[in-house]
Amino acid sequence: MTHETVPLYGGKLSRRVSIRDLRTAKERGERWPMLTSYDMYTAEIFDAAGIPVLLVGDSAGNNVYAHADTVPVTVDEMIPLARAVVRSTSRALVVCDLPFGSYQQGPEQALETSIRIMKETGVQAVKFEGGLPVVESVRRIVEAGIPVMAHVGFTPQSVNALGGYRVQGRGADADRLIESALALEEAGAFAVVLEMVTPQVAAEVTKRLSIPTIGIGAGPDVDAQVLVWQDMAGLREGPLPRFVKQYGDLRGALTDATKAFADDVVSGSFPAEEHTYH
Ligand code: KIV
Repeated sequence: MTHETVPLYGGKLSRRVSIRDLRTAKERGERWPMLTSYDMYTAEIFDAAGIPVLLVGDSAGNNVYAHADTVPVTVDEMIPLARAVVRSTSRALVVCDLPFGSYQQGPEQALETSIRIMKETGVQAVKFEGGLPVVESVRRIVEAGIPVMAHVGFTPQSVNALGGYRVQGRGADADRLIESALALEEAGAFAVVLEMVTPQVAAEVTKRLSIPTIGIGAGPDVDAQVLVWQDMAGLREGPLPRFVKQYGDLRGALTDATKAFADDVVSGSFPAEEHTYH
């Protein structure tokens, strides 16, 4: 079978996006969008809209499970979300995060968790956070045949160690970040998320790597951009990180629909004749 080489976004691929397609897109200088998804309807919508990569992020911690951050999320909580996203998509490459505590003990634990997630969810790849300390885990998992997306810069699972939500890659940190990204590519990662890093460092990493860089708060000079879908669509309430742009007001739309329903029930105008069986 020949390898279709249509654009990642806007092209009409008749199969799932592969890690090879992502590399080809980088070679072509193509930019592409990525979103998180944790459920059936968003997965269906994003897939139909042509988003080439969907991440079942451990941001489920603070966007699905009502925790303050991602630290408490477990593998058992990730698996049903990832299964739903895989079942609801036919084109997107689906990536599942390894949650905190499920890989930090080293390559064997990381491999065991990755195998479980691949077998029990049907995702096409895993992602986990960290720079040089996780390079050997990346190598071990990739050697076992599992594609790995890396994640450096601000790594939310280490929020306590990093002292809060802070931009990474400033000053002397820049060289370490670039070195980490290069080492992760050398270990076999197929892409790397750069979260909250200076645009200069992100641009330098993007130039030096042959795998795609995916920015979130990393400026414009990266290969792809990712946002948590509830941020992108305006479902979340409260102060937003500077890197978020809201493309909708789902919270407003859902609030209006909820109030209209409640008012109709109270006034007796729902259900009307057309909603009633005879
Ligand atoms: O869990 C997540 O949503 C992520 C993205 C922010 C990249 O890791």
